[in-house]
Amino acid sequence: MKIISSIDDLRDQLRGQLRTVFVPTMGNLHEGHLSLMRLARKHGDPIVASIFVNRLQFGPNEDFDKYPRTFQADVEKLEKEGVYVLFAPTEKDLYPEPQAFRVSPPEDLGTILEGEFRPGFFTGVTTVVLKLFSCVQPRVAVFGKKDYQQLMMIRNMAKQFALPTEIIAAETYRAEDGLALSSRNMYLSAEERAEAPALHAQLQAVAHAVRGGHLDVFELERNAVASLAARGWKPDYISIRRRADLQPPSAGDLAQNAPLVVLTAARLGVTRLIDNLEI
Ligand code: PAF
Repeated sequence: MKIISSIDDLRDQLRGQLRTVFVPTMGNLHEGHLSLMRLARKHGDPIVASIFVNRLQFGPNEDFDKYPRTFQADVEKLEKEGVYVLFAPTEKDLYPEPQAFRVSPPEDLGTILEGEFRPGFFTGVTTVVLKLFSCVQPRVAVFGKKDYQQLMMIRNMAKQFALPTEIIAAETYRAEDGLALSSRNMYLSAEERAEAPALHAQLQAVAHAVRGGHLDVFELERNAVASLAARGWKPDYISIRRRADLQPPSAGDLAQNAPLVVLTAARLGVTRLIDNLEI
């Protein structure tokens, strides 16, 4: 595997490739990331992965400084997955001057759910993804469904900017007890780790109720929030949305069994976890 940090070297290395498949990450790789690499292999060749902890997508009180950085272990994992190039730019390589041009996500998708609780997050994500796409020029890129709203945002961005990159969605990789794998799980104490699967269990309960014909969405959301809060969580939201645009379902959507998804973000101690489940 070639490890490349400069944009020019990356372009030289990938020149002439017709079906590069790209998996952007912020490192601290776990089985969830590796499952993205395995899916990538089915959709293109060569596989390019990136590791870049993107300052632009972290709020001033968020965990940019303490975000886990485990570069050497990550390299070994990617080598085993047959990744051809690891693009690992420094901040100077990717942002040689302050990134004044930024993507401005649409209000309707950018200011709800994660956008409401993490102002600026999607500007940061879409800006770095657009820039990484410009560097790698992938034909295909893989993103996990765990970051459901991020996936939708990037899909919409690729469509509206007519980017020549097909976006592939990967299923969320879960531990046996249901907890979605995330780099932030490492912030959990042993006691919190034992409690953490309750988040997925709560989503399953909501999905089960909707499938069973309980159509009072607000009541389901309120009860789910209360039940997590009673266990010591601080939920930001548990929200049932249309899969198509992440807007709240209308009575008509519910009556016609429109495809839905229930999304959540909640704090357990200092750790903020997100998860979702398609209904
Ligand atoms: O999902 C992530 O790890 C990041 O948001 C991404 C897509 C690599 C952009 O920094």
